[in-house]
Amino acid sequence: MYLKPGFEKYIPFVPQPIEGRTWPDNTITKAPIWCSVDLRDGNQALIDPMNLQEKLEYFHTLVDIGVKEIEIGFPSASETEYEICRELIDGGHIPDDVTIQVLVQAREHLIKKTFEAIKGAKHVIFHFYNSTSTLQRKVVFHTDVEGVKKIAVDAARLIYDLSQDAVKDGMDLRYEYSPESFMGTEMDYAVDICQAVVEAIHATPENKIILNLPTTVENCTPNQFADMLEYFIRKLPGRDSAIISLHPHNDRGTGVATTELGLLAGAERVEATLFGNGERTGNVDMVTLAMNMYTQGVDPHLDFSHINKVKDMYERCTKMKVGERQPYVGELVFTAFSGSHQDAINKGFEYTDKSGTGLWEVPYLPIDPTDLGREYEPVRINSQSGKGGAAFIMHHKFGYDMPKAMHADFGAIVQKESDRVGKELRAEQLFELFDREYLSAPKTYQLERHHFQEDARHGDASWVTFDGEVGYNGKNIAAHGEGTGPIDAFFNALQELPEGAIKGYQFVDYKEHAMASGSDTQAVCYIQLKDPQGRDVFGVGKSHNINRASLRAILNAINRSLLS
Ligand code: KIV
Ligand code: ZN
Repeated sequence: MYLKPGFEKYIPFVPQPIEGRTWPDNTITKAPIWCSVDLRDGNQALIDPMNLQEKLEYFHTLVDIGVKEIEIGFPSASETEYEICRELIDGGHIPDDVTIQVLVQAREHLIKKTFEAIKGAKHVIFHFYNSTSTLQRKVVFHTDVEGVKKIAVDAARLIYDLSQDAVKDGMDLRYEYSPESFMGTEMDYAVDICQAVVEAIHATPENKIILNLPTTVENCTPNQFADMLEYFIRKLPGRDSAIISLHPHNDRGTGVATTELGLLAGAERVEATLFGNGERTGNVDMVTLAMNMYTQGVDPHLDFSHINKVKDMYERCTKMKVGERQPYVGELVFTAFSGSHQDAINKGFEYTDKSGTGLWEVPYLPIDPTDLGREYEPVRINSQSGKGGAAFIMHHKFGYDMPKAMHADFGAIVQKESDRVGKELRAEQLFELFDREYLSAPKTYQLERHHFQEDARHGDASWVTFDGEVGYNGKNIAAHGEGTGPIDAFFNALQELPEGAIKGYQFVDYKEHAMASGSDTQAVCYIQLKDPQGRDVFGVGKSHNINRASLRAILNAINRSLLS
């Protein structure tokens, strides 16, 4: 027994029996109708609920993202909520293609107050609810099934009657009913009560009611929820007159899965919040749901291409923090600490660039970070990281595309430093290391001046003469050498120096590239030599002059080998 006993007091969920379930064979092929409940469910779960300015800013962000149905609050619940509703309407904040949704308990005076609050709005979803679960009936309301059904039906009739004037005045008014705690309600009873509401509110296939089936408190596995939903939908006589909506909370941490399986089981609409804010463990996260669809090639009809801006707004208005590992938006989700992950990601980027298919095929990155306005940042280099990560950063962040053979050389430097400081290294620290080791390394030998002469008389082949001065031991020493190209000529000149000759090095390889486009760009050269002890040594040189860049790289390699 590892856990203190206590689990015996919990009552296991009793699954809804269903025969021939079909939802497992379905896939999500289109976006649901999205409804944001940030300003209501999300707001009511904040330590400090949002003020008017914050709610307005949040509302406009939701509109910019493309949410067309927005639950703006509970206008009958408080003066503040009422005033916010009025400001949205009177202040002209609601675009014509956006419908506001208002929530109200199935109680007469609150319903009347809510009708006052929405006067003058163009498109409204009037959302009413009462709790229907066995547990709430037993411990909260002490009411039988008929009593609870009557609350819903009476409210539906009242709402229908009170709405007639508004509809005559041109309001586009739709109805939504939530059997709150649907997931804890007997399914046949949920069908019965919902059907009674469908009829009381005169819903038709042309004028559908939204039946919102909340997982008010998550209490079962997502597949069990999907079974319930398929059962409910099959049994509902007025199915054609209803839009089936989900409103999942996340108590078991499976809100996203519950929603996805719910969509497979026939739901058409989802109520969610940005980053999953909401009562207790939150509502289901709209961003994760939408981007999950996106990564399956399904257009979510929501725009999260500037996710950091959305996150900043969210954190400012709600005073909540988005977790570092939160899918798609968390600070650390586009980093890779593990060396093997970093290597595989680098290869994936190269493959994706070269494949020409336009398809995203990068291991460990299920989405292209740029689709969210973000970057892949293996900037988090720690002692677990491999050589590829550091090389990737130097390439993609600073433009130094080292040859493969050099990755291990720089990787070892990085690893040593990260062991020394005992924590991760940021990109800027990597650059400092690179600069210290290669670009600004101490110079035993230094190129003071040089001149090349090229003789190209022998057809394609050319013969190059180097003349110059190399600084060594505080003196400038004249150098002369010849070879098949500038590098060869310089290399030979170093071996022939009258003083301090550099002997025993072998040239292995070199690579060069421009740092940016344009004729004034700097060239970078990487040189690999074998030193007299047979060790591979690397050097880097940079200059506006391509020849000078390679000469500097040779000297850098030699100078480094003399120090080690
Ligand atoms: O979680 C819930 O059941 C609700 C209802 C009011 C829809 O928020
Ligand atoms: Zn809720």
